[in-house]
Amino acid sequence: MTSRPLQATAQAQPNIALVKYWGKRDAALNLPAAGSLSITLDALHTRTRVRFDDALTADYITLDGESDEAQSRKIGAFLDLFRARAGITTRAHVESGNDFPTGAGLASSASGFAALAAATDRALGLHLQSRELSMLARRGSGSAARSIFGGFVEMAAGTRDDGKDAFATPLLDASAWPLKVVVAITSRKRKAVDSRAGMETSQRTSPYYRDWVATVPHDLAAARGAVQARDFGKLAEISEASCLAMHAVMLATRPALIYWNGATVDCIQCIRALRLRGIGVFYTVDAGPQVKAVCLPDDAADVAEALRDVAGVENVLVSGLGEGARIEGDA
Ligand code: PMV
Repeated sequence: MTSRPLQATAQAQPNIALVKYWGKRDAALNLPAAGSLSITLDALHTRTRVRFDDALTADYITLDGESDEAQSRKIGAFLDLFRARAGITTRAHVESGNDFPTGAGLASSASGFAALAAATDRALGLHLQSRELSMLARRGSGSAARSIFGGFVEMAAGTRDDGKDAFATPLLDASAWPLKVVVAITSRKRKAVDSRAGMETSQRTSPYYRDWVATVPHDLAAARGAVQARDFGKLAEISEASCLAMHAVMLATRPALIYWNGATVDCIQCIRALRLRGIGVFYTVDAGPQVKAVCLPDDAADVAEALRDVAGVENVLVSGLGEGARIEGDA
């Protein structure tokens, strides 16, 4: 290691799963119990700067300008995976910021670990392939493996014990089917139970957990086919069913995981009514109260207007589909 600080800055965006992931086949390696399929957004960003410096005696990590002990421990352990590859023990200064609320069901862990993986790889000059970056991002958060790529992305659960077949692959570029996503923010509070803890409890206690895992391969194949055929109606049907099945598992978890609030349900009903009027839109909801309405490009403005009028909706964001994680300054 030279005494020159090694640094890089990367950006990544959250992704929204259309076929959901909820549960692990291995907690230590963070291997998903089933595959998933997502779209990467372009309007919400995480920007992460990593600087390895021989002068540091400990990692120094800030998220949105603040340092949090639990997060720092998790990020330090994540950096260790890269340090082991580079054969160094040098500590790092990490500054990460989001231009959207953190920990409220807007997939901040996905964009966060994807940006951190890309920046750390570049700072250490590892030149890892995207597939390897996806596997490493997965160790931070399962959904982060998908934010390495843009557009439509599929995550494989894999079957190997070492996790070397559990990575994401791009299915279709954003420009090939430029759908829009309207995000209705119904609360800015941090969620009470994070996804890692929630999944673990569901897996242990939800009577529907095994049946849920068994539904995923079929949903994945159908969603993959719908993406390839640009069949919006089919994708809508599969995505809503996958979302509701996951929330059914959550509701039946003991103690129950109820991530929705009243406005979440009202947004879902609003989207169902819009669809009956012929508007191209479907909903999906993650481990939080925000509703993501996936729309045909020409219908996004009408959907945004309708969701803005739902009582309890604090804000509405309109996003396109975007790119995967990238280094700032690269073309
Ligand atoms: O990988 P995590 O810890 O961000 O969990 C993701 C869980 C869901 O967002 C609810 C579903 C998904 O596939 O993104």
